[in-house]
Amino acid sequence: MKYLIASFFLLFSIVGLAKENQFIQCASCHSLEKGVHGLGPSLYKIKGKQAGKQVGFRYSSAMKRSSIRWTRSNMDKYIEAPQSVIPGGRMPYSGEPDEKVRKQIIDYIFSQ
Ligand code: HEC
Repeated sequence: MKYLIASFFLLFSIVGLAKENQFIQCASCHSLEKGVHGLGPSLYKIKGKQAGKQVGFRYSSAMKRSSIRWTRSNMDKYIEAPQSVIPGGRMPYSGEPDEKVRKQIIDYIFSQ
């Protein structure tokens, strides 16, 4: 019985960890620190901001020209299919098909 409980605990912590770490998909290119750009621009307090405006990052002209604001729904569409939201943009990410995973990622980014 003890072992059974222990393995349940282990299982739940692994599931919990996987959930928390969904931003890992983005973290190789994006930081959440102010002004710290990687391959992609910093996503520090990006919620509600105009796209393509972070100082010190060289965006594609498609991104600069877009008049998108990073609301929850725009961010959701962008992560699902970056190329259809910003055609000609150059974020090398193919998209996350799972709505729940996208929600977790956005919750995490918007929780700052
Ligand atoms: C392989 C690198 C890479 C990965 C992985 C990646 N991105 Fe990006 N991201 C970029 C690049 C490069 C740009 C700039 C695109 C442009 O200028 O067209 C960008 C732009 C963005 C922008 C626009 C920011 C702004 O200042 O307007 C958002 C929002 C964004 N990414 C979110 C995400 C999220 C969320 C994920 C994870 C699901 C992710 N990205 C994964 C490289 C990446």
